[in-house]
Parts: sequence; C-alpha cells; structure tokens
Amino acid sequence: MKIFLDTANLQQIKEAANWGILDGVTTNPSLISMENIPFEDLVKEICRVVAGPVSVECVSTKAKDIIKEAKGLAKLADNIVVKIPICLEGLKAIKVLSSEGIHVNTTLIFSPLQALLAAKAGARYVSPFVGRLDDISHDGMDLVDQILTIFDNYGFETELIVASIRHPLHFVESALMGADIATVPFGVLEKIIKHPLTDIGMERFIKDWGKVKRG
Ligand code: G3P
Repeated sequence: MKIFLDTANLQQIKEAANWGILDGVTTNPSLISMENIPFEDLVKEICRVVAGPVSVECVSTKAKDIIKEAKGLAKLADNIVVKIPICLEGLKAIKVLSSEGIHVNTTLIFSPLQALLAAKAGARYVSPFVGRLDDISHDGMDLVDQILTIFDNYGFETELIVASIRHPLHFVESALMGADIATVPFGVLEKIIKHPLTDIGMERFIKDWGKVKRG
C-alpha cells in the first residue's frame, strides 16, 4: 500500500519524507488555507520535496473553467495531480484532461457509483472520504470495500486513495482490504509507528545491555 500524507504543511512533509516511507501528498483548499505561504510557492516547494504525486484541488465549477484551472495547476510541476470533485461538470473535465495525459484525482467520493463514473471518465485516482461518512453514522470502510470490488470486477486501473482517515484503524483496514493508497494526516502516521510494548522492550534491552560483561 502506498502512503500519502494528507497535508499542505511543509514541515510535516519534510519530516515524513525523511522517514523513507512517503509516496505522495494530497492537499485540499482547507489544508492549503492553514499555511501562511503564497499558494503557487507552497505547491512548487511541496512538489520539490516529494518525489511522488502531489494532489492539488480545482475550485471551478464549470467544465471549461475546471479544464483551464487544471491545466494551469499541472504546469506548476511535473508531479502535480489535479483534484476534481465528483459532479457532472467535473466528469466532462476528467474526460478531457485524462485524454490529454493530465492525471486526475476525483475527490469527495461518497458512493460506489460516483467512483465507477469517475473511473469510466478516465480518472487516475478516486478518493472516498471514510471519516466524513463515519461522522454521519455510515461505515466509510464499507464504501472502500465496494469500490475495490467494482474496480476488480471490470479491471479498472484507477487507483483508490482512502481519504479522510481519522485514526490508525482506518489505516489497518485499508491495508487489509488491499486499497492502493492511504492518505493520512501526520498525527495518524506518528501514531502507527508507536506501540507501548516496543517502548517497554527497548527500555528493557538497553537496561540489560548495561549488565553485559565486556572485556
Ligand atoms: O484531503 C481530503 C480528506 O482527506 C479530508 O479529510 O478529515 O477533512 O474529512 P477530513
């Protein structure tokens, strides 16, 4: 499973890149708005630090405007993926952009058929939002399972990014289901590395090493 970081924070991105496990980054307008850096400078710097795909979202709502905006974003760096919310105008834009070789991550996916339509239109990625479904008492991971089955049934090459991950259990379930990618907030990534028994074990080994006789 590829691991993406769901943030626009350069410090977090640089730190995770140092851990050697970072495959890409996803941003959205809300995450970008938290950073006090001019938009284009920020995106270019993220794309320089991260070798893999970096998703940046379009906010236009008409197909022709989405296409224009996406082409502008794609020029910022070679590893840009344009994020387009699923909707009818978005579908038209996905078709055009994908046929021109621009990679699209279809975002705000909340149903399996939205994912199917995005894949048919040529999207490179779909992003089901699991946490936001859990928030309204629907099981977000059920949606991931359904999309994976549909993509497998018809041999779609579109990759599934599990998004809106809120805790390590979402991450574990993503891996067990065979999701292609999980995009995680930095805090969740930190949590999954830690285990209390690892800490206790390390402490004991270091203590016992102090008792070892050496010549
Ligand atoms: O990047 C999109 C997604 O991961 C947002 O997550 O926590 O705002 O639902 P959240």
